[in-house]
This record gives sequence, C-alpha cells and structure tokens, in this order.
Amino acid sequence: MTDHTPVAYTGPTRVLSGVQPSGALHLGNYLGALVKFAKLQHEMDTFIFVADLHAITVWQDPAALAQQTREIAAAYLAAGLDPTKATIFPQSAVREHSELAWIFQCVARLGWLDRMTQFKEKSGKHKERSSVGLYTYPVLQAADILVYKATHVPVGEDQKQHLELTRDIAGKFNHDFGVPAFFPQPEPLIQGPGARIMSLRDGSAKMSKSDPSDYSRINLTDTADDIAAKVRKARTDPEPLPETLEELTARPEADNLVGIFAALSGRTKAEVLAEYAGKGFGTFKPALADLAVEKLAPVGETMRRFLADPTEIDRILKAGAERASDVAAPTVAEVKKLVGFWGA
Ligand code: TYM
Repeated sequence: MTDHTPVAYTGPTRVLSGVQPSGALHLGNYLGALVKFAKLQHEMDTFIFVADLHAITVWQDPAALAQQTREIAAAYLAAGLDPTKATIFPQSAVREHSELAWIFQCVARLGWLDRMTQFKEKSGKHKERSSVGLYTYPVLQAADILVYKATHVPVGEDQKQHLELTRDIAGKFNHDFGVPAFFPQPEPLIQGPGARIMSLRDGSAKMSKSDPSDYSRINLTDTADDIAAKVRKARTDPEPLPETLEELTARPEADNLVGIFAALSGRTKAEVLAEYAGKGFGTFKPALADLAVEKLAPVGETMRRFLADPTEIDRILKAGAERASDVAAPTVAEVKKLVGFWGA
C-alpha cells in the first residue's frame, strides 16, 4: 500500500486483540487467537476485548448480544486469560474506540478500503444492502489497536490485510500531523500451524462460524462425544500420511488435520509427520480425536462453569473497561489536540 516511512516507536510494547461475539467460538478462533492471548499475557502488557461494535456490522439480536459478550469473556477465561494479568473488556464500554475510529475514517483513503477482501466476501452479491459499518469495519479495527498504541496483535491469517491497513493508517496519521513516532507500526503475530484452520468438510474453505454445516467445525462448547465424532467424520483422502511437508500441500484436508494436530500438541507439522508418515487415517484420526478431546473438552467445561456465574464475568468486564479507558483516554486527548479541535 502507501509508503509512510516509519520512524522507530519508542513506547512500551503492548498486546491487543479481540474476537466478535457473533456466534459460537470454534477451534480456529481457539488456535488462531485465544491460545496465543493466554501465552502473551505472561510476556507483555495485554489488552483483550470482546468486539461487540464490530459484531453489529451485521444484525445481532439485542436480546442476545450481552449474553454473547459474556460467552466470549468466558472463553477467554477458559483459555487461560487471567484478569489480574490481562485487561479483558467489552469494546463498546470504552468510548474512545468509536471516537478514534471517526478520526481515522478521515485519515484512511477510500481506495485502501476498496481493496479489503473480507468486505467483498462478507457483503457477497448484495453490496448495496450491506451496512456502511461493514465497509468501514477495518478502520474501527485500526482504532481498537492504536488507541492503546499496541505494538503486537495476535490474530489468525484472515486478519492480515486489516493489520496492513492499520499500519497504513498509523503511518499516514503520523505523517499528516507531523508526529513521526506518535503511533507505532503494530506487528501482526500470525505464525504457527494454528493460524489458518480449515473446514473439516472442505480443505479449501476456512473454518468459520457462518458455515451452515456444524460438522465443518469443532465448537468450543462441543461435548467430548461431538468432538470425537467430528474428527472421525472429517473429510480425508485414502492415502497414508506422507514423509514431507511438500507432499502434504497438494492434500488440503490431510494438511489441515496435521496442522490441527501440530497446533494442539504444540509441535510443528514436520514433527507430526515424523511420527505418522506412512500411517493411514485409520490410525491418525483416532489419535487426533483423543488429543482434541483431551485439549478442548476441559475448555468447554470451564466455559460453562464461568457462565454459571455471570456476576463474576460482569465484574471482570467492568474492571477491565475502566482500566482500558485509563489507557485509551490520554491517546484520544492527544489526538484531538494534534487534529486541532477546539478545547482539546
Ligand atoms: P473474528 O471474531 O472473526 O475471529 C477472532 C480471531 O480468530 C481468528 N480466526 C481463525 N484463526 C485460524 N483459523 C481460522 N479458521 C480462524 N477463524 C478465525 C481470527 O483471525 C481472529 O484473530 N476483526 C476481528 C476482530 C477484531 C480485532 C480487532 C482483532 C476487531 N478489532 C483488533 C485484532 C485487533 C474478527 O472479526 O475476528
């Protein structure tokens, strides 16, 4: 995109990421995002929010939205996020996200948004009937990140383009207002076999909340029996597993299952192949089912335990929102001054 030569940012390192409360969380969200959040909280100051402002870019039932927000918070806690280490909060409870998003809408260029592939996918054939928010969605995402001057953003691969846009907005803001090191150029953290988990029914489609087939994904709330059944029924091919990663690339379904095994066991795909090369899915699938049940069933159980105590979740979200506002408010105050608003 545009070249705004970055000047080294010298502020503190900070992690920020979020998940939309727009449906049941699945294995892709868990491996691409939640597991990384839990790890990073021990390494850096970490802000993790529930992206409810993003969720309403498509219709959400008002009677269900607050509960969906609690469910994401419960998943964060079940994945190991510790509210005494990480700041956990609902996006809509920190008004600075929306305030900065408006200013960024006046910084971002229409041509930049026109290139966003996720809008094209989500709006489908009826672009003119999509909400304006669905189109400007990545600008709000840039505000989410930069309002905390976050330097590291753990996400799955599908968010890569939004992170590039965030970097462009940061660069243009810094350039336009003559403050070369004001916003950092946030680093996406995408690496690892969990970054792009594919559908269990189709190795060329991303595992997604919106896939009509429940057998395409493993939900975090699935029971042990459901998890095992979904792995058993996952689409595969008749060949045994190969020796090398190159041979795997032509077999998307096999590649995906090896990737899931690697991500769940904290190994590389090459290490998994070293153990299973030459073995068929009759051996590999039961091993994967056992591993998936061992790692995921307790997450679902812990989620249910947290959800049984919504008062505690609400307390965590409220305290998190206050802490987040304390960091976000000074950034917006400085931005308003730079823009030249009256009274800023
Ligand atoms: P969302 O809610 O669609 O997904 C949450 C996280 O899960 C990752 N993910 C996957 N990772 C691997 N394989 C998959 N099949 C898979 N599906 C989803 C996503 O990459 C994401 O990390 N726009 C974001 C939410 C957001 C955000 C932000 C993220 C809003 N503001 C600021 C980071 C920073 C989204 O819709 O994620």
